[in-house]
Order: sequence, then C-alpha cells, then structure tokens
Amino acid sequence: MSLPPFDVAPWTQNHLARVEQALSQWVGDGAPAGLGDAMRYAVLDGGKRLRPLLVLAAYEAVCSAAVASSDKAPQAATSEAALRASTSEAALRAACAVELIHAYSLVHDDMPCMDNDVLRRGKPTVHVQFGEAQALLAGDALQAFAFELLTPDDSAISPATQATLCRLLARAAGSAGMAGGQAIDLASVGVALTEDQLRQMHRLKTGALLQGSVLMGAVCGAAAQPAYQALSAYGAAMGLAFQVVDDILDVVSDSATLGKTAGKDAAADKPTYVSLLGLSRAQAYAQELLQESHAALAQSGLPDTRALAALADMVVRRSN
Ligand code: IPE
Ligand code: IPE
Ligand code: MG
Ligand code: MG
Ligand code: MG
Repeated sequence: MSLPPFDVAPWTQNHLARVEQALSQWVGDGAPAGLGDAMRYAVLDGGKRLRPLLVLAAYEAVCSAAVASSDKAPQAATSEAALRASTSEAALRAACAVELIHAYSLVHDDMPCMDNDVLRRGKPTVHVQFGEAQALLAGDALQAFAFELLTPDDSAISPATQATLCRLLARAAGSAGMAGGQAIDLASVGVALTEDQLRQMHRLKTGALLQGSVLMGAVCGAAAQPAYQALSAYGAAMGLAFQVVDDILDVVSDSATLGKTAGKDAAADKPTYVSLLGLSRAQAYAQELLQESHAALAQSGLPDTRALAALADMVVRRSN
C-alpha cells in the first residue's frame, strides 16, 4: 500500500493543541497554598512535548493496522469505532501522564542538590521562582497526578489497560528507569565511564521514559506482539539518540536557543557522549541510532508509521 506524502507540521500542530488544552485543564486544579501555581508553571508554556507526541503517534500507528485490516460487517465496524474513541481518551491521558512525569523530573533535575540550574524552558527554574520546598512538592504532586490521570473513575479506560499503563509508566520513571539513571548520573561526576556504562546511564535516565511513551501508545491501540516488540526497539534506539543529542546540544548550542544553560555538562564534569567520543563521533552515533529507529519501524509490519519516523528525525535534527 503506498501512502500519500506526510506533512509532519499540521500533524504536530493538531496533536499539540489537544495535549496543551488537556494539560491546561487538568494540571494544578484545586491544589492549595500556591502548589497549583508551581505545578502549572512547571508544566505549561514551554517544552517540545515530544513524549506526548510519541504516545499519540504510536497509538495511531497501531490503529493504522486495525483500519487497514477492517473488512467487517457494519455492526462490528461501529463497535470498533466506539472502542477507538475510548482508547483515544486513554492515549490522551497517557500522553499527558508521561509529560507530567517528565516535567517533574526536570523540576527535580534543576534543583541545587542535583544540577543546580536556574534556566529551564526559557524561564527561571521552579525552585528559583517558588523556592526549593515548593519545587520539591510540585515534583511530588506532578508524579502522583500522572497516575491519577491514568486511573479515571468513569471507566473511560478498561481496568486492565489502566494497570498496564501504570506499570509501564512506573517502570520508566522509577529505579529501573529515570530515577535510577539520575542516580548513576550523580554518582558519575568526574568519573570516566566506559561506553557501555554511559549507554546504560543514558538509556535509564532519558531513554526509558521515551521508550515508555511509545509503549504506552502501543498499549492504548492494543498492539499485537510483533508490532509491540518492533515499537519497543524503535523506542530504545530513538530514546538513546535523544540523550546523545542532548549531550551534543549542550556543547554546540547556546542558552537562548536551548532555553536552558548551555555548556553545563563540561562545567559540572559530567561524562557525556561528547566527552567520551568527541563531537563528530557522537554525531555519527546519533545518526546510526536514527537509522536503527527507522529499521525497527520497517520491521513493525504497521502500515503507517510516518509520524513516528518524523518524530525520530526531529529527535536527531532538533536545535533545542
Ligand atoms: C530535556 O528534555 C531533559 C532531558 C531528558 C535531556 P526535553 O529536551 O524533551 O525538554 P523539554 O520538554 O522540551 O523542555
Ligand atoms: C536530565 O538529563 C534527564 C532527566 C531525567 C531530567 P540532563 O540533566 O542532561 O537534562 P538537561 O540537560 O538538564 O535538560
Ligand atoms: Mg541532570
Ligand atoms: Mg540537568
Ligand atoms: Mg543535558
């Protein structure tokens, strides 16, 4: 089946609008004593929203298989449409949930006890704006709210899907994922890691949540095993590429473009792909991982993975 040309710009704009609207409606609502302000400040008005876009793109890629194979009686087609509408609610909630975990990880990453950064998404960091205690609590509350979003009490998402989404997000965020990777990061200041050790640190601290985003989208679309495995491989390669490029941008870009302080990895003596391999080999590695992501999509058997392909391109070619 040949597909028409894919224009990623309108696709992104449409999906971003849904995510922004939902986040703005949900985040910080009713939180007391200024906590809601800190939560909204951390989440709204900034950020590329890559993780939510990955959830929605993976969900749609999986649904493209269902559409392509649907040659069904009208009644079956109608109940499938109802199912798709409810899983689309699941995908939107999953998209917002991963962004909340990501935003919380940034709030804590920037705190004086971690990277001690004052600029994030072009604004003063949350602890600079609201104080350290409120930043800590905003992170805590965003993390908790992510799981609340995945478990609505109106059964918009089946109990089994809720449980799977919670498990995937918890794994990606916890000691086997982001938090574990951040622990390695802090323990590695001034340490000359091997390439294997650096890869493991990056896979955990950043790759896990990006891969988890893809897998959560796949679960919302009820992906079959072979497609799920291929999307998992896509997520692993793209997720690692993301942090390799983050290391590169820290060296080659400036704070105004990044919206966060450039040059801080070297200043803090953090091991990165640039410090280990040098700039041009790090860039070549990011390209290699991009090819790996595309190859995994080709293996997925899914008819339309164009949005996922475009997002992987964006990960590697981005300027911020
Ligand atoms: C920055 O992530 C933190 C890392 C995991 C390297 P992003 O570059 O996705 O940050 P935002 O969400 O666009 O601000
Ligand atoms: C942070 O990695 C990854 C997170 C889990 C937040 P970095 O410390 O390199 O992220 P930036 O460069 O501050 O965005
Ligand atoms: Mg850090
Ligand atoms: Mg940092
Ligand atoms: Mg960085």
